[in-house]
Amino acid sequence: MTVPPQTAAVQLYLDPAVFARERQLIFARTWQFIGLEADILRVGDYLSETVAGFPVVVIRDDYGALRGYHNVCRHRAGPLVTDGKGRCDRQFVCRYHDWRYGFDGKLKEATGFGPADGFNVLNLPLFPIRVETWLGFVFVNLDAQAAPLIDTLRPLDERLGRQAYRSARLYDHHPMACNWKLYVENYLDGYHREGVHKGLAAEAGTKRHEVRMHGSVALYEVPNRSSGTAGLWAWVWPNLGLNIYQGVLLLEHIRPQGPDRVTIEHIFLHEPEDPGVDAAIHDSERITDEDAWICERVQKNLSAGIFSQGVLSPAHEGAVAWFQQRVAQALAGG
Ligand code: FES
Ligand SMILES: [Fe+2]
Repeated sequence: MTVPPQTAAVQLYLDPAVFARERQLIFARTWQFIGLEADILRVGDYLSETVAGFPVVVIRDDYGALRGYHNVCRHRAGPLVTDGKGRCDRQFVCRYHDWRYGFDGKLKEATGFGPADGFNVLNLPLFPIRVETWLGFVFVNLDAQAAPLIDTLRPLDERLGRQAYRSARLYDHHPMACNWKLYVENYLDGYHREGVHKGLAAEAGTKRHEVRMHGSVALYEVPNRSSGTAGLWAWVWPNLGLNIYQGVLLLEHIRPQGPDRVTIEHIFLHEPEDPGVDAAIHDSERITDEDAWICERVQKNLSAGIFSQGVLSPAHEGAVAWFQQRVAQALAGG
């Protein structure tokens, strides 16, 4: 018989100091999804986002390559671009005092700065970040030493590498009053289906949803009663979910906003004329609402102060235990 592992300490879900460490030791060191390559096809097209508190921008440069920078001017920390999608004409022009930077990050002109001894624009390039793409998804990494993106995604790439590109998309987002780790743990836990998703349990039969870790990727193939695999469900350390069900690819970006707040951003990618899309999206929304409800209630119970530590089922919560260990390792590593 296996002794059940203990759950992580409650403070990990409540303490702003832990959240600050996670930002530095987890989110600033891992590959973070930032958007779709289809949105930045032309020279000067950009995507700008805040990755765990760090504003960043990815731009299509003059040679067609993608480059990434912190969205921070070297003069007095103004933003180079506004948030979201947009286009720069030949260069970045800081929104504060108009300093101009090439897409290669070099400061070309400190507009109107005036005479100053020893001032050399060459000494003030933008702060670079890493950018890589996979299946049309753009990722950034704030750690210059990080291993290539494919090292993390390989188990998923082996299953999804030949997916056809789906051109139509639909976005929505779900703000939730819980720590990001509670949402991830719930995502990695097939044990709660009967308790939380009664409709899903009835559809899928009684077999429990067993999640297995493959490196830093959790995978679960959705069984179909008649024809083998109906879909694939995956999660990538530390905060990206991806699943394909009824032909629709759903990207779930789990974006921490603070110790007790997270936003789940959904992008549904599908074929333009797929008649199954509405039903797939409707099911997904219902499941997300059910998950939000339970995660928010657990956060409330953790904050209340009666619960200090629980146990994880060796048979059904192995992926949750893996995640809690991985977080503990990351937090110890700084
Ligand atoms: S802060 Fe960018 S030009 Fe002043
Ligand atoms: Fe769920």
